[in-house]
Amino acid sequence: MLWKGLVLSALSVLNSGMIFANGASGNSTSSSFTSAIKVSGNAFFNSKTNERFYIRGVDYQPGGSSNLTDPLADIDTCKRDIPVFQDLGINTIRVYTVDNSLDHTKCMQMLSDAGIYLILDINTPGASISRYDPACSYNADYLQSVFATIDAFAGYDNVLGFFAGNEVINSENTTNTATYVKAVVRDMKKYLKARGYRQIPVGYSAADIVSNRLLVAEYLNCGDDADARIDMFGVNDYSWCGDSSYTVSGYAEKVKLYSGYSIPIFLSEFGCNKVVGSRPFTEIQAIYSDSMAKVFSGGLVYEYSNETNNYGLVQISDDGASVTKLTDYYNLKKEYSSVSNPEGDGGYSTSYSISECPTYSKGVWEANNTLPEMPAAASAYFTDGAGEPLGTLISTQNMCDDVEDDDSVSSLSSVASTSNTTTSSSSSSSSSSSSQVTSSTPTGNTTSQTTSKSLVSKQVSSSSHASSSKSKGAGNIISTPLLFQWIQKVWNIIL
Ligand SMILES: *[C@@H]1O[C@H](CO)[C@@H](O)[C@H](O)[C@H]1NC(C)=O
Ligand SMILES: *[C@@H]1O[C@H](CO)[C@@H](O)[C@H](O)[C@H]1NC(C)=O
Ligand SMILES: *[C@@H]1O[C@H](CO)[C@@H](O)[C@H](O)[C@H]1NC(C)=O
Ligand SMILES: *[C@@H]1O[C@H](CO)[C@@H](O)[C@H](O)[C@H]1NC(C)=O
Ligand SMILES: *[C@@H]1O[C@H](CO)[C@@H](O)[C@H](O)[C@H]1NC(C)=O
Ligand SMILES: *[C@@H]1O[C@H](CO)[C@@H](O)[C@H](O)[C@H]1NC(C)=O
Ligand SMILES: *[C@@H]1O[C@H](CO)[C@@H](O)[C@H](O)[C@H]1NC(C)=O
Repeated sequence: MLWKGLVLSALSVLNSGMIFANGASGNSTSSSFTSAIKVSGNAFFNSKTNERFYIRGVDYQPGGSSNLTDPLADIDTCKRDIPVFQDLGINTIRVYTVDNSLDHTKCMQMLSDAGIYLILDINTPGASISRYDPACSYNADYLQSVFATIDAFAGYDNVLGFFAGNEVINSENTTNTATYVKAVVRDMKKYLKARGYRQIPVGYSAADIVSNRLLVAEYLNCGDDADARIDMFGVNDYSWCGDSSYTVSGYAEKVKLYSGYSIPIFLSEFGCNKVVGSRPFTEIQAIYSDSMAKVFSGGLVYEYSNETNNYGLVQISDDGASVTKLTDYYNLKKEYSSVSNPEGDGGYSTSYSISECPTYSKGVWEANNTLPEMPAAASAYFTDGAGEPLGTLISTQNMCDDVEDDDSVSSLSSVASTSNTTTSSSSSSSSSSSSQVTSSTPTGNTTSQTTSKSLVSKQVSSSSHASSSKSKGAGNIISTPLLFQWIQKVWNIIL
């Protein structure tokens, strides 16, 4: 399984990945419909037309976390879904996990032709910051995965932005992880520069936790090092349920809370399903209103496909060949088509200042303003590129940098035993998908902690998923890019 996976990865690299290997920033998708989006002040703008850009989107990960597949690497999936996106009238999708070893050229071109942008989460279940041991999970192997995903996508003009993390801070006792999220933001932005790529916006998608929602926003947008500050902030917000209103939902208070925030904010997930029957999506009228446009730049509905958590707009047939549009779909389409963007620039501003860094406070805000240095071994990627993309098979959360790697050949045999999920609850279950399904659902703004329903989200930042990726056949852990270089050498000899 290991060998097969590696050979497949190598093949797909030879096939496609090399196109972007040199940091080329050319137009691999050139469509006037999707000229690059840039950030100016607290809003997005189309770099060609200079029109303000509002995200009208859906979150997209057919299969969810129980059957995690890269939807942008499968042409049949793209042919099935992209026409539906167009019919729905959206301009952006968010994808939570891709396989950086696969070829995305065709799907990215199809999206571009359809006028659709991509917001991409950079992590995979196995390669992400762990809430339980953030320091250990922040290592050079992890960054190799992150940078290789940048390599695979930076060439496309219709990449609107990258999320460096999703709901890593998902409670009152996980604020310490913010330090590592911010370090990843910094490393990604420095990598984009070092490789000569377009300065694609790098952001974070936050869980809506009452006790720290503002602190997270401020922390990630503060400090002297511009590279360590995010370029955009997504909030996963399920506070508008059913036929709510601007004030009842709490949207009005959020606008007040975030007003003066100096970078674009948008709803990276919305669409409360605590309703009888279908979701009316009347929040669309509020989101694209003058009142909100001063602070928010649109949002993405959670989510395209109906999975076990019942948030879907369409039902995908068992054989995957077709989709059936659900009532939610028709409701959303009606709202998107009847609500236009605010006139002019929507009252955006370029004159707001970056945020003040929140001070350390035990039990409230435990993120350190001194970020960890990038692991030394990762600097080589800045000069040479990330090297071979290793796909979704790798698990890097327990690879601490103070553990010396063996030489590349011997690590082949030793890797299988190094996995240790340090999670408390769910790691006991070998088929982790079932434990995911029981995770909490959004409950509006009544609870002190509104955790997201996003199964994928949970998976992406939780170390329990070492086991889930293993159950997909990735039982072996590849510990170093060196290993891959060695395999490539062998491969070249075979060729
Ligand atoms: C990319 O395409 C745009 C619009 O078609 C064009 O203005 C720009 O010069 C192109 N960039 C490169 C690097 O070819
Ligand atoms: C998982 O997704 C793939 C690709 O969409 C599909 O072919 C496969 O049938 C799915 N597996 C399950 C168990 O649903
Ligand atoms: C945070 O607290 C909750 C509830 O007490 C606990 O289940 C969870 O494991 C804690 N998380 C971490 C990362 O300590
Ligand atoms: C949401 O919050 C607003 C303002 O804080 C409050 O008036 C409203 O009752 C809340 N709605 C729900 C459903 O709890
Ligand atoms: C969505 O999927 C869930 C779980 O499979 C199912 O119970 C529900 O009926 C589906 N929703 C719709 C509207 O078909
Ligand atoms: C913050 O991080 C720095 C460097 O890692 C460390 O020296 C310092 O003790 C940390 N401070 C706190 C309050 O954790
Ligand atoms: C895995 O981690 C747990 C908790 O830190 C520890 O008790 C256990 O000894 C570790 N197992 C291995 C094989 O390293």
